[in-house]
Amino acid sequence: MGAQAGDATKAPTPDHILQTGFAFWASKALLSAVEMGIFTELADGPQPFDRLRGRLGLHERSAKDFLDTLVALGFLKRDGETYSNTAETDLFLDRRKPSYVGGILEMANARLFGFWNHLTEALRTGLQQNEARAGATAPTFEALYADPARLKGFLAAMSGISHGANMAIARQFPWAKYKTFADMGAAQGDLATQIALANPHLKGMGFDLPEVGPVFEEYVAANGVSDRVRFQAGSFFTEAMPKADVITMGHILHDWNLEEKKMLVKKAFDALPSGGALVVYDSIIDDDRSKNAFGLMMSLNMLIETEGGFDYTGADCQGWMKEAGFGKTYVEHLVGPDSMVVGVKP
Ligand SMILES: C[S@@+](CC[C@H](N)C(=O)[O-])C[C@H]1O[C@@H](n2cnc3c(N)ncnc32)[C@H](O)[C@@H]1O
Repeated sequence: MGAQAGDATKAPTPDHILQTGFAFWASKALLSAVEMGIFTELADGPQPFDRLRGRLGLHERSAKDFLDTLVALGFLKRDGETYSNTAETDLFLDRRKPSYVGGILEMANARLFGFWNHLTEALRTGLQQNEARAGATAPTFEALYADPARLKGFLAAMSGISHGANMAIARQFPWAKYKTFADMGAAQGDLATQIALANPHLKGMGFDLPEVGPVFEEYVAANGVSDRVRFQAGSFFTEAMPKADVITMGHILHDWNLEEKKMLVKKAFDALPSGGALVVYDSIIDDDRSKNAFGLMMSLNMLIETEGGFDYTGADCQGWMKEAGFGKTYVEHLVGPDSMVVGVKP
């Protein structure tokens, strides 16, 4: 995920500059393809051009260029005039498969793509540029959840962006030492589900705002772990955190300002037993703040999306953990740009 630095031994070329400058073309082509359900359509098998164009409702002027753009970008294959999914798009972008990660891309298409058009304004004013621009005064999550379809879409999107890291945490963390866990801000419940599936000895809960409950319970039941994973409604701002051997927080701390971050880490510390662990994960920025470009851009996304949120380095998070009273702390890479920061209570 690191930005490509120029190679000092070669003459400079503008390639990287121009590719990045026009990266929104490729991004929007993929997002529109997901919006139109192209990969779901092709999951039933290859389709000839005319049939596919008709099924997708593509205009004759756009159809060939659009589909061939997706071929050139590596998201479709073409044999003669017949189009098919690649192995990746078939597995990850067919809406009917549990491995679907397109929820986050649907959200990027419907919300973030437009909001990022106001990045310069955000950079100059420090003000969020999402629904709040249109005068929404409610706190971010309440504004987002006011519409049930948007609630469901956002929670599914979270599973999309978090699934790989959730599976890594379920496998990598030393769960054998513990019996219970509580996932704070659990969304649809994918982390709790993956932990339970990979560790049959564990019982756990997802803690989130009350509106999230039905969506969480449906997802956990669909994955067959309802007997060991339950939902608890509440707010981690107004209530103590539930007691558990391990408390997890995925993409939570980056939503909030420094004071709120430290308060959440301290609340987790207070809820854990001696020997218990807090597992925080996000697109943790490298301590030198020069390599994890995705983590740094995620922080800009928090500028756009939240009142005071920002992403942070492993050293930052370990500092907040030590301040709260944690003893041993460490950072461990998960997948792609994501790492977890672990703090153990003495
Ligand atoms: C960015 S999402 C992260 C979801 C999930 N942990 C993941 O990594 O995919 C933040 C989550 O925090 C929840 N949340 C926001 N405010 C909360 C509060 N005051 N108490 C409990 N959960 C809250 C949201 O409903 C949402 O599910």
